[in-house]
Amino acid sequence: MTIGDVAKRSGLSISAIRFYEEKGLIRSLRTNGNQRRYARHMLRRLALIKVAQRVGLSLQDIQQAFANLPEGKAPSKADWQKMSSRWQRQLEEKIQLLQNMQTQLDWCIGCGCLSLDNCPLRNPEDIFAQDPQTHEYWEEI
Ligand code: FES
Repeated sequence: MTIGDVAKRSGLSISAIRFYEEKGLIRSLRTNGNQRRYARHMLRRLALIKVAQRVGLSLQDIQQAFANLPEGKAPSKADWQKMSSRWQRQLEEKIQLLQNMQTQLDWCIGCGCLSLDNCPLRNPEDIFAQDPQTHEYWEEI
């Protein structure tokens, strides 16, 4: 398929398809005239990219997941199950992180101290305690 065909079938822009190819998520072959040609199964990879982005995964997460996909054929149902299970765990971790931040923000609402010693959002996990000089600099701000 030409890049135009892939764009039409996937609903992605040509520039997005080129970008994903640059990042190694999809591959093409070149004709004698140096035009890209894509195997049909690349549409499946593009569909997976769209799903992953919808779930909120980073490009790096997607690259890691795709590193285990077979070359030269569409990802199988088993590949998808393995990948989606992993993504589900990543999503649960993100949700937990956001819920923790929400709880911390609840703590800060109405406070306004922005203290390096007490505020969990300004100094998460007390990172400034590890470097007293940085702590002094930020305390002045
Ligand atoms: S602003 Fe006071 S605890 Fe965060």
